[in-house]
Formats: sequence, structure tokens, C-alpha cells
Amino acid sequence: MKPLIEVLRGRKIICCVGSGGVGKTTTAAAIALREAMDGKKVLVLTIDPARRLANSLGLRELGNEETRIDPEMFSRAGLTPRGEMWAMMLDLKHTWDELVRMQARTAQQAEAILANKLYQTLSTAMAGSLEYMAMEKVYEVHTSRRFDVVILDTPPTTNALDFLHAAARILDVLDNNAMKIVLGPMMKAGKFGLKLLAAPSGLVLRTLSRFTGSDFLRDLAGFMMAFEGMYEGFKARATRVKALLTSRDAAFVLVTSPNPLTIEEALFFHKALADDAIQTAAVIVNRVQRDPRRHGGPDTLSALQEALQLAQIKDAGAPLLSERLSQTLTDQAALADLDRRQVERLRTTLHGVPLFSVPRLRKDVHDLAGLWQIDGYLGENGGD
Ligand SMILES: Nc1ncnc2c1ncn2[C@@H]1O[C@H](COP(=O)(O)OP(=O)(O)O)[C@@H](O)[C@H]1O
Ligand SMILES: [Mg+2]
Repeated sequence: MKPLIEVLRGRKIICCVGSGGVGKTTTAAAIALREAMDGKKVLVLTIDPARRLANSLGLRELGNEETRIDPEMFSRAGLTPRGEMWAMMLDLKHTWDELVRMQARTAQQAEAILANKLYQTLSTAMAGSLEYMAMEKVYEVHTSRRFDVVILDTPPTTNALDFLHAAARILDVLDNNAMKIVLGPMMKAGKFGLKLLAAPSGLVLRTLSRFTGSDFLRDLAGFMMAFEGMYEGFKARATRVKALLTSRDAAFVLVTSPNPLTIEEALFFHKALADDAIQTAAVIVNRVQRDPRRHGGPDTLSALQEALQLAQIKDAGAPLLSERLSQTLTDQAALADLDRRQVERLRTTLHGVPLFSVPRLRKDVHDLAGLWQIDGYLGENGGD
């Protein structure tokens, strides 16, 4: 089988999708590293990098800045990339809260809004807008041709394909009649001057303001007003983004764990992609239990006893250390068998989709060296 990098050759946008916690961010960064090693100028657009990974890549600040991974980081990991690796962190909630802070007249007011239940609900409902912004960013970077490849690490939403439909959902929220009825008068008033905003008018608004405080509603109306216009041409652009994602320029990499439930979810994603006329370019089963019997180490009781003796480690305790080690190896082998069966089930079900299995490493993946180790399993033979 071809290595993953070959499978993805020529693709300019690579989206890593899958359930939460399976290793999307890690995979996205590992693919980016590989592309950079191969001479590409690559941007990985990540949503929620584990703190240690972000730190080790030098992405300390939150914010929507494209940051080049310092070549010094590569040499420290013993790597010499022929290209450039860039990363950008897109913090959905953070970006949204930032907008509130910018809009607010005082810090107290901003805090009041941020703490408000309605705002929290709304900003979550509107989080799709930021997922959409991620897609917008991909689109913008792609069309600017600043990078050869953009890799998108998708957000950990319950439905990870949400971002494909975010645009439609936002239009729904904004077109929502209830919302317009409630906020409409305020938004209109806002256009003619703030005086009119002093007293909430209309029954709905009066009732609502009793619960939420009229200040908040006024701020909210102002907030939404500020967003007006941003959504103009939204539909047209959304269509172009969708066209790009379904084109040959884009590839979707499905990441999963060998856990049966997660595999079910992966199959669901695969189908959801197909419903959007998107082919799954590759599947990565991450954190597969290694089979201790396949690594040439001591795996029988007598071999373990011999190894302990050689290492001058006392075979003591009850049960004996060698017996406990032997039990651990047996357990690990059983787990490895379970995982292998799951991987095979997935391989059969997704017949024809290149599948790579990446073992569970001893440590979490928190730097370039760790990412490079992951890449080693994305080569030929799918790491099996
Ligand atoms: N193959 C692996 N072996 C060991 N740890 C891993 C492996 N893949 C990912 N991890 C660790 O698992 C955690 C979750 O991975 P992450 O890529 O952030 O998942 P996701 O983005 O899907 O939520 C991270 O701490 C990462 O370092
Ligand atoms: Mg992630």
C-alpha cells in the first residue's frame, strides 16, 4: 500500500475529521510535518491543540495568527525540513468572547455579557459561525496561494461534520423569525439612534428584558447589528467553499481509535461524508494496542525469568515479578487481539479506503519528534 503522503499527493486542503480525543490534532500536525519535510510550505489550522504540543511548537499565544514553526525546533528534533511548517490556532469560543470584549463599552459590561446565560447559549449556538470561519480561513488561504497545503484540524463538535453545514445553520439562526421578532425592533432602533433603545418596547421584549435585563438585550441587538452585512453574500460564498471541499483539491482523512463505539462513529462520518459527495481519502486508526508477542521481546515466563536474571533484577514478590510481567503481557496480547479484530472489521467495511494503523505510543505526542514518530506509521504497509 502507498504511504499516506502518496495518497494525499496533489491535495491542497486536507481535513482531519473524527470523534473527540481520537488524535485529529496530532494527525493533522503529523501530516503537516511530513509535508514540510517533503519541501512544502504548509499551514496547519488547528482548533484545540493539547497545551504541551502547542507550547513545544512555540504556539504559546492564543489568537488567529499564522506562526512559522521555528527552524530551531526542527534541528532540536534532529529534523531538516526542505519546506516550511506554519501553524495557526483558531480558538472558537475565545474569538467569540473577544468580539464581545471589543464591542463592549466597559470591561464590566463585557464581563456581564460573558457571564450572561443567554449569551452563553447564543454564543454556543453561534459557534458554528466560527467553525464556518475556519472554513472561510481555509478558503482564503487556499485562494491566496500563500501555502502549498492547508491542513485543517476540525473542532471537537458532537457532530464533527458540522463545519460543513455551519453556513446553512447560521443563516438559519439569523433568519430565525423568533429572533427577528425579539431583536428586530432594537436592531432597527439601533440604526436610528441610541435614544430609542432606552426603553424596550413590545410585549416580548418587555417580558424578556425582565429576565435578562434590558441592557443585555440592547447589547445583544447591537452585537447582532454589528454582524449585519458580514452575512451578506454568505450563501454564495458558502457554495464556493463547499465546491472547493468536494473538489479534487481537498481530501478528508478520517481518524478513529480501535474502540468499537468510536469505529461506529467513524463509519457514521464516512457515510455522512459520502452524503455530501465527499470521498474518504484515508482512515487512520490511532492508538492501537501493540502486540508484545510481535516485538521480539521476552514473552514467555521462562524468557522473562531469564531476562530478569540477565538484568540482575530480583524476581521477588508474591506473585513473583516474572509472573506479574507475564500476566501483563498476556493481557496486552489479548487487548492487541481485540484491537486487531476491530481494525480488520473497519478495513473490510471500508473496502478500498487506504487504512493506516498507528500504535499507542508510550508517551503522549507533544513535540516534533513525537509527530515524526507518528509519521513513521503512516508509511507503507499502513504501519501494521
Ligand atoms: N498514537 C498515540 N500514542 C500516544 N498518545 C497519543 C497518540 N495519538 C494521540 N495521542 C495523545 O492523545 C491526546 C489526544 O490527541 P489529540 O490529537 O489532541 O486528539 P483530538 O484532536 O482528536 O481531540 C494528546 O495528548 C495526544 O498527545
Ligand atoms: Mg483536537
